[in-house]
Amino acid sequence: MLLDIDPPIVNASGILSFLDIFQLLDRKGATIGGYVTKSISPGERLGNENPVVVECGAEEYPTLNSLALPSQTPEEWLEELKQTHLKRSKLIVSVNGVSPDGVSRIIKMVEPYADGFELNMSCPNLVPGEESVMAIVGRHPEAASRVVRSARRATGKPVIAKLSPDTRYVEIGQACLAAGADYLGCGNTMPGMFIHSRGPVLAGQSGGVSGPALKPVNLKMVYDIYAELRCPIVAYGGIMTWEDAVEYFLAGARVVGLGTFFAHRSTSDIVRDTAAIWKGIQDYLNGEPLESVVGAAHRKSSMEMTRSH
Ligand SMILES: Cc1cc2nc3c(=O)[nH]c(=O)nc-3n(C[C@H](O)[C@H](O)[C@H](O)COP(=O)(O)O)c2cc1C
Repeated sequence: MLLDIDPPIVNASGILSFLDIFQLLDRKGATIGGYVTKSISPGERLGNENPVVVECGAEEYPTLNSLALPSQTPEEWLEELKQTHLKRSKLIVSVNGVSPDGVSRIIKMVEPYADGFELNMSCPNLVPGEESVMAIVGRHPEAASRVVRSARRATGKPVIAKLSPDTRYVEIGQACLAAGADYLGCGNTMPGMFIHSRGPVLAGQSGGVSGPALKPVNLKMVYDIYAELRCPIVAYGGIMTWEDAVEYFLAGARVVGLGTFFAHRSTSDIVRDTAAIWKGIQDYLNGEPLESVVGAAHRKSSMEMTRSH
């Protein structure tokens, strides 16, 4: 089952993705068709010590984080979800996909308050001494399909399996679709690091690269997955403008997600700039349906290949 996300713009989990912020943005009329929560873990998690976010590029955006999925308990999330009312948009609950049992318990608990779920099997960040969820689940087709199957058994609502660009993502994606995922989320951050004063800056040593530096990587991920699997895709990675969003639609995405975009933006900036992104997309479509551009870059590539033969 697919989500009716209109407009086809969501936020990416983890950047200002808390329920009171969603309610504020919804009330103020942000042009966001679906809100995705921070990933909920099976129990309370503190994540890493500061610094957990560094700005290491020429851009003004933070581009490396190593939060390592801090979370309040599912019970605390449930209490907040009960108080959350969105007038215009869908609510997607992101779940830390580290274990099939944890995923099923969280989904069953919060099911009445969610329109859909996203399974985070792709966070590359770790607290020293642990392994990341990407390493435990996201790199292994069988582990990933066990997590998706467990989610599928727990809910009839749409499920997005969020993958890492740093894996054999076509193979993993295929396993997730076979296990019942409705969408593939492409994708999470790419592992990276930052060294200063002769040592790694982040407590987790490495972190996840996001923002404009990530866009070409995840754009290729969307393109490759669409080419092989032709499935519904939610795209994440460095989407800052309507042009970025259109590139992802052309590569094969049906929905685009804004993450690092939210950094350094006030509520009114977000309301103004999400409206500008949607207007840019609509002007580009010029009355055509969105479906006419989804994956259109593949049609062009195959026409050119035919011509050159
Ligand atoms: C500070 C921060 C926290 C994040 N937390 C999560 C998370 O809890 N769950 C998740 O699936 N992805 C998380 N992500 C990854 C984003 O959802 C997104 O996939 C990634 O940042 C790429 O999009 P962007 O370049 O637009 O930021 C996080 C990213 C950042 C920068």
